[in-house]
Order: sequence, then structure tokens, then C-alpha cells
Amino acid sequence: MGKWKRTEAYRKRAREAGYRSRAAYKLLEIEEQFSIFKHAKRIVDFCSAPGSWLQVIKECCKTPDCSIVGIDINYIKPLSGVHLIQRSIDDPRLKSQILELIQKPANLVLSDCSPKLTGKKTIDRERQIWQAKMSLQLALQLLEKNGHFVTKVFQSGEFRDFITHVKQHFSFVKTFKPKSSFQRSSEMYLIAKHFQGKQNPISQDAL
Ligand SMILES: C[S@@+](CC[C@H](N)C(=O)[O-])C[C@H]1O[C@@H](n2cnc3c(N)ncnc32)[C@H](O)[C@@H]1O
Repeated sequence: MGKWKRTEAYRKRAREAGYRSRAAYKLLEIEEQFSIFKHAKRIVDFCSAPGSWLQVIKECCKTPDCSIVGIDINYIKPLSGVHLIQRSIDDPRLKSQILELIQKPANLVLSDCSPKLTGKKTIDRERQIWQAKMSLQLALQLLEKNGHFVTKVFQSGEFRDFITHVKQHFSFVKTFKPKSSFQRSSEMYLIAKHFQGKQNPISQDAL
């Protein structure tokens, strides 16, 4: 099936299933392969709008005392049982606001950040890797020991260095390309499990 037909098929499937976007299937595929939701009950989702990952998180979080926080620079339509914060991921108030809501360190931090694409690959990739680094920096401050982190990352010159950095903090790190993602796009997901607990965020200079 061609790129547009496949995208359209996922869009139609998402509409019929009541998901806010086809991105839901990327997270469902990640869960099927890597079981990231096992034992997760405090979950933070960066760059959540329009909210289809939040819908999947609600389905996958099996415990009744789930605490879910979704953050985006844009408005997210309310979703019952989910805390929403409209802020940029580099807003210095964000970390304390999240911790106030979840009360204890998170078990799982997700990030599906993407900048407004300009079509200029170098610019788009630079902006996106900055978002992935920013998400990692926050994840390192929010996660409990053994917690998991998943982030979108566009393949770029900095991709390998970023993975090397993530490997310093998590004992399991794999890249994953969901079938529901454009096969020819540079979009990948980094699955990092079992945070080692060393609070050693990326220095601001590296961002
Ligand atoms: C691919 S969409 C996320 C889709 C989402 N996972 C879902 O399932 O509905 C990328 C999101 O990144 C958000 N974003 C981009 N830059 C951001 C920033 N600096 N802070 C917070 N969100 C940002 C955009 O507003 C957009 O909603």
C-alpha cells in the first residue's frame, strides 16, 4: 500500500475507534512490543495535543489510582481523569507543577514532540532533537528508579550521540519504527527502560 493510502487507512481506523489522531497506533505498537505500561500508574506525556496518546494511556493504565498528566504548548480538549497543562516543555515552572499533581516520582515519561515542520530538513531535525533532549532532561528529574522513558526522535547527525547519552541512564535502550509511522520519514522512537536513578541531567549548554 502507498504512503497516502496507508496514512488514510490509519486515520479512518482512528476516527472509527474514537481516537483523536492516528498517532494512537504508534503508542499501541510500542506497548505491544515493549510492555511499558506494566506497573505504571504515574504517567507524564509531553507534547500531548490533540490527545490520542492520552486516550491510549487511559486504556493501558490498569490501576484505579492512575495519575496521568498531559502537557502541550497548545490547548488539549479535556479528557476525564487526565490533568492537562498548557505550557512549553522549556517552561521552568513545569517540573514543580507536574510533581504537585503526581505527588511522587513518575513511573513512565512519554514524549511525542514535534516542531511545526518547515520542510527544511536540517532546521526541523535540529528543533526536534532539542525537544527530545528537553524531554529527557525533564524525565531524568521526574522518574523514579526503574521507571521508563519513550521519546520520538528524528534521525539526524545528533541521533547517535543522543542514544549514547540515554544509555548512560537506562539499562535497556532500543530504537523502534512503528508500522503506523511514515516508513520513509526520519521519525523513530527511543524506548528506554529501567532508569538507573542517577540524576545527571544534560547540561544547558548541550541543549
Ligand atoms: C505529533 S504531535 C503529538 C501528538 C500526540 N502524541 C497525540 O497522540 O495526539 C506533536 C505536538 O508537539 C507539540 N509541541 C511542539 N513544541 C512544543 C513545546 N515547545 N512544548 C510543548 N509542546 C510542544 C505540538 O503542539 C504538537 O501538539
